[in-house]
Amino acid sequence: MSNLHIYPGPLIGKTTVPADKSITHRALMFAAIAEGVSRVRNYLDGGDCRATLSVIQALGVEVEEPEEGTLLISGRGLNGLCEPEDVLDCVNSGTTARLMAGLLAGQRFHSVLTGSAQLRRRPMLRVVGPLRGMGADIGGREEGRYLPLSFRASRLQGIDYTLPVASAQVKSCLLLAGLYAEGLTIVREPGPARDHTERMLAAMGAPIHRLGPQITSERPARPLDPLDISIPGDFSSAAFLLAGAVIAPGSRLTLTGVGVNPTRRGLLDVLVEMGAEIVLDNWGESGGEPTGDLHVYPSQLRAVTVGGDTVVTMIDEMPVFAVLATQAEGVTVVKDAAELRVKETDRIATTVQELRKLGAQIEERDDGFVVEGPTRLRGARVYSHGDHRLAMALAIAGLVAEGMTVVEEAECAYDSFPGFERTLARLGVKLEG
Ligand code: S3P
Repeated sequence: MSNLHIYPGPLIGKTTVPADKSITHRALMFAAIAEGVSRVRNYLDGGDCRATLSVIQALGVEVEEPEEGTLLISGRGLNGLCEPEDVLDCVNSGTTARLMAGLLAGQRFHSVLTGSAQLRRRPMLRVVGPLRGMGADIGGREEGRYLPLSFRASRLQGIDYTLPVASAQVKSCLLLAGLYAEGLTIVREPGPARDHTERMLAAMGAPIHRLGPQITSERPARPLDPLDISIPGDFSSAAFLLAGAVIAPGSRLTLTGVGVNPTRRGLLDVLVEMGAEIVLDNWGESGGEPTGDLHVYPSQLRAVTVGGDTVVTMIDEMPVFAVLATQAEGVTVVKDAAELRVKETDRIATTVQELRKLGAQIEERDDGFVVEGPTRLRGARVYSHGDHRLAMALAIAGLVAEGMTVVEEAECAYDSFPGFERTLARLGVKLEG
């Protein structure tokens, strides 16, 4: 297990960030069921996406890497996946487990999904319930509440389903199952969950359509077209560096080619409202997703209250948002964010617990947290709890904490941000591995 020792200092320079995790997962899975060879450039080679890659390979999909960063995926068509010889291991990846559940529910063979101890604690009934409503034959631990889950061949019917919480994983799972179902599947979402699935499947020719908060999916009349895409930089990875540059005095940072899909960039909008000096320019498009370059400078932040739909568009950024809030003037409130309790860890509890060790004035609420700032943080030993986003948020706190901060078990950053330490070092941060 590796600990990261980090000292205060600015982030200076220009860098790209690793490819988007959510989009990489989708590209791999959807390419697997396309007809023909997909070319996926700049994919994310991190722990979670590797889990998806090995799952599709276990389903008979051939994948080559002709040059570093580019995958050629030989799609087997909607009904060409093969029965796996062994259980499918999603490791720590909730996206792999929940999206694959939608895909496997409609296959004509038996399969089993499992994962790490961390993933086996995360709720699965949110996908198992509606999939059973579509006619899927799913068994699982504690009646399907948790992995492992098993899938037996079954005939699916469309469903009209209102998501109880805005979740892109559940939405995507049902839209995928809808491709195998008789009749129309309608998913109604209570908030703007990330829409990468809808964008990518529609671009491949799948009959996926949005009308306001309602998205429909049905069995395609023709095979899905293969992909030829370049994955944009992950806004959720950029968020750590962005946050560091906003709070660490003397920073001057440019992040290039970052995905800025409106369903993902809530933190940016909130930071601007808090008074951060951020410029977004060089707008472009990559893989059907908007991209841009972010120029970030340190600024004195004002506290805000974040709730409702905004939470949905920055759900993965909440640990680092708590760090930002420790440096903002006034009382920052995060509410309507109970979903944080079922992420890789209970991110309300773990974020509050660890930031307090650095001297943060942060209180837990049932559905979020309250932070009083600005606080002068003090370096201390903190623990990642094996949660990649918490590990990186704590490292960013170390950029403004007096003395040395030690993030224990920081190697989990690899799940979404391979090379996190190297990137910090390149931007001038003093670290000891
Ligand atoms: C993801 C959706 C979100 C997010 C996760 C990735 C996705 O989860 O937290 O990191 O790729 O669809 P929920 O759909 O459970 O909110």
